[in-house]
Amino acid sequence: MQNFWKKLIKPTYVLAPMAGVADSAFRQVCKSYGADVVYSEMASATALVYNPKKTLQMLVSDKKEQPYVVQLFGGEPKHFAVAAKLITVKGVPRNSNGILRFAQNDTLIPNGIDINFGCPVKKVQKQGAGAVLMNDLKKSREIIKAVINNTELPVSIKTRSRVGQVGLLEFLDNIKDLDIKALMIHGRSMKQGFSGSIDTRIIREARNYFGGIILANGGIYSYSDSIEMLEKTEADGVGIAHGALGRPWIFKAVRTGQSVNRSKKAIFKVAIKHAELACKLKGEQGIIEMRKHLCWYVRGLPGAAGLRQDLVKVESLDDIRDILRKNI
Ligand SMILES: Cc1cc2nc3c(=O)[nH]c(=O)nc-3n(C[C@H](O)[C@H](O)[C@H](O)COP(=O)(O)O)c2cc1C
Repeated sequence: MQNFWKKLIKPTYVLAPMAGVADSAFRQVCKSYGADVVYSEMASATALVYNPKKTLQMLVSDKKEQPYVVQLFGGEPKHFAVAAKLITVKGVPRNSNGILRFAQNDTLIPNGIDINFGCPVKKVQKQGAGAVLMNDLKKSREIIKAVINNTELPVSIKTRSRVGQVGLLEFLDNIKDLDIKALMIHGRSMKQGFSGSIDTRIIREARNYFGGIILANGGIYSYSDSIEMLEKTEADGVGIAHGALGRPWIFKAVRTGQSVNRSKKAIFKVAIKHAELACKLKGEQGIIEMRKHLCWYVRGLPGAAGLRQDLVKVESLDDIRDILRKNI
């Protein structure tokens, strides 16, 4: 299958994977603002082996999202092998007119598979998965090989700048012979978690160890952040996570130099469109999951605290429309 990574225009702007956030509705909204590639929420390779239905349902996607990358996490090479094959051969369910065609064999093969070497969450650590894997060079290799050997899709990885004793460059040196097409580097160590400075030097040096597409990730909230990151790292593109929360138009902003600030009216218009899509794709559950997005949309606006009190209780699209329209 085609390596879509090679065809992208540089700099490439990518929606980074976000568990509990980057579902089909959010990915579609980000795509509509110019995200070049969108990543799924991380999906458990183990769950895809033993109980695939729920996880596949989480990975549901729409053609509009392509190129779409499914991210896997886990600690067991055998599980990655089965999961990669399943996704490559059978694909994931596709939304069609808002109906989950789960039972009807209407599937979509994603454009790439990514492996998570960056998640610091305790629950994931306990499975020997995510960031802690970077510390286990042998197992990391086995996992990457298991995925590459079981898919024709381009394989990418997402790492930290350092986990414990293992720095990014040592990690990359250990896998330099493997056919990995893209690398997203969250330029913080596992110890730093999600705050603190980004190690732009190590991202730039990664180029000496990795020949594929390099995406720099961490702390991008504006056009100037993106420019600075690209200049300092000489990466091929950037991955954006927090910066897209309640500001999915950031993909347009980083491309065009526009400000990410928008009028209340413009923000509410996007929030309502996003909610309509979430409701269409996930029904009532979509509305419940929209609550956090709505709080992100109103962040920084006058009266946001009061608005949030109402938005965390919404139960229908009408509730959302009423609250937002009343407050324009
Ligand atoms: C809510 C949330 C969920 C995340 N889930 C994942 C995930 O599933 N897989 C992953 O590799 N990184 C995940 N991340 C990390 C982001 O992809 C990104 O590396 C990190 O937030 C740094 O980028 P930022 O400063 O642009 O947010 C998540 C981040 C957030 C905020």
